[in-house]
Amino acid sequence: MGRITRLPEDLANQIAAGEVVERPASVIKELVENAIDAEAARITITTEYGGKKLIRVEDDGIGMEPGDARLSLERHATSKIRRADDLGAIVTLGFRGEALPSMASVSHFRLRTRARGEPSGTEVRVNAGVLESVMEAGGPEGTLVEVSDLFYNLPARRKFLKSDAAESAQISKTVTQLALCYPRIGFVLVNAGRKVLSCPPVASVSDRLYQLYGDRPDLVEVQRESGGIRIHGYIAALAEHGPTRGPQHVFVNRRIVKDKTIAHAIFDAYSVASNKERSPEVHLFLEVPPDRVDVNVHPTKAEVRFKEQSLVHEVVRRAVADALGRGPAPELQLRPSDVMPGRPIPQAIPGVLGGGVYTTRWGPNVRSTGGLGPGVQSTQVQSTGVQSAEVRGAEGHAPGVVGLRPLIPLGQFRDTFIIAIDDEGIAIIDQHVAHERVLFERIMQRLTERPLESQRLLVPLILEMPPAERQALVSRADALGRFGFEVEEFGGDTVKVTAIPAVLPNHECESALRDLANDLEGLDRGLGVEEGLKRIAALTACHAAVKANYPLTFEKMAHILEELRATAYSTVCPHGRPVMLRITRREVEKNFDRI
Ligand SMILES: Nc1ncnc2c1ncn2[C@@H]1O[C@H](COP(=O)(O)OP(=O)(O)OP(=O)(O)O)[C@@H](O)[C@H]1O
Ligand SMILES: [Mg+2]
Repeated sequence: MGRITRLPEDLANQIAAGEVVERPASVIKELVENAIDAEAARITITTEYGGKKLIRVEDDGIGMEPGDARLSLERHATSKIRRADDLGAIVTLGFRGEALPSMASVSHFRLRTRARGEPSGTEVRVNAGVLESVMEAGGPEGTLVEVSDLFYNLPARRKFLKSDAAESAQISKTVTQLALCYPRIGFVLVNAGRKVLSCPPVASVSDRLYQLYGDRPDLVEVQRESGGIRIHGYIAALAEHGPTRGPQHVFVNRRIVKDKTIAHAIFDAYSVASNKERSPEVHLFLEVPPDRVDVNVHPTKAEVRFKEQSLVHEVVRRAVADALGRGPAPELQLRPSDVMPGRPIPQAIPGVLGGGVYTTRWGPNVRSTGGLGPGVQSTQVQSTGVQSAEVRGAEGHAPGVVGLRPLIPLGQFRDTFIIAIDDEGIAIIDQHVAHERVLFERIMQRLTERPLESQRLLVPLILEMPPAERQALVSRADALGRFGFEVEEFGGDTVKVTAIPAVLPNHECESALRDLANDLEGLDRGLGVEEGLKRIAALTACHAAVKANYPLTFEKMAHILEELRATAYSTVCPHGRPVMLRITRREVEKNFDRI
């Protein structure tokens, strides 16, 4: 007898659901996309317990006739494509006919819908994929879908759902993205009886951005059309201060996507414009002719495939670079003085330390891949974040830091850089970055022992924030507590801050928390506690460190250099910026023809 049997339909649906429905936010994404395809003008999303108990999406779209309402729950039943050719140029968000049956197979499911102009509607109920009832029903024109007790029949999958706060945060993020992309549609998101987001219909993306994020003078507009590709959007301007991370929203033909080509093009443009490590805030909308992009390549449609990948890369890179308005990054160059004026022959300094890579002292690998002594090799610094620094540091084979001589400060250049010397050369140290590095080390070191000291605020600080950021903070209240922050929800759009780390100057506290919220919101939740702690430490250090354009006494300079030495001369800041540049003795002597 053969061994193969055909799976029953409800089991097949559950398996399909494994791909389409990951968590409450993915149910919401599918339902909202259906509402958008149905030409809704207003969409209301209601959730309870992070969507685990209840998800309801209501729209005022075209609705369905009774027969369609019944059919919509069958697998591969769709109104959006009819023949294979249609797959080549999909203009709707849906096309597989899988979303509704998938979610109905893993929940208590209710669909109530009334086609426009029809006197009455239909209600269909399904439990765990089994049709319970189909009835005539009242209700307004449009469609309402309720998904309750997600995965109740699949305990193994239910276990994988995160805390209510974490699922709610993801829901806010998803709805924010959808709202951003469809400004002409009104969105309301209600979580646990509270309105988390409310965006009435507006005319443009910039109006929607304003509804979601308030006034944003720190964003610059991107606009470009080239090779049949149109790009529009807003991206973080290059700024000395302020967050280097932010939400990255990329939409292709009004679909939220994660695309490596586009992400790389953005990264490229920013890293040429500045050597600050960034994962900048971007809201970019690409319009590509539908026959030049395949949207049918990913189970949750989170990825697309471009026919001309390198063209897309180039167009995005240029668009972003133009918007940033910068040429190539400046290089530190020594120009021998005998070169004829007007025809300088720039020479890069091989001995300049562009940022070595060190493990931190509190990590398990107390090793470094270089020192300040002679023969230091420069290492690319541009994209070296803390994490990659550690990975690479751990692979290093250089001996530990030995015999580091103290650097003697000579003075400050433009109240921003410390000029210092030792026997082996001249060092230019970015005072803010160096101090930040020192504080970061100290904070991480202390954290391994006990929570940081905290200072109670005389008057609690009430901060207004967008929902996703607020939730990013509140859901990490415990981790923040270890740093001395006390943060709690305060109702409306606000959080209340009652205590901050003792190392943080009072006047920095608001901007520190805003940056933190922004940073944590952009942080992938999968990254875990350790990475979250590092981020908080890095931002706390950044705000507590001496600033650029700030005069320092010799004592303070010596202190910073001494502390820096104690941290094994870590040469990148927690954000990955170089701490110091170095001109070696050999380089100086060579250029003066002394050797
Ligand atoms: N909110 C809605 N308003 C009107 N019709 C809807 C709505 N939601 C679903 N439908 C109808 O039900 C059909 C099935 O929806 P479903 O989401 O399962 O598949 P799809 O959108 O066609 O494709 P995909 O699986 O890619 O989302 C749709 O093609 C559409 O005709
Ligand atoms: Mg759909």
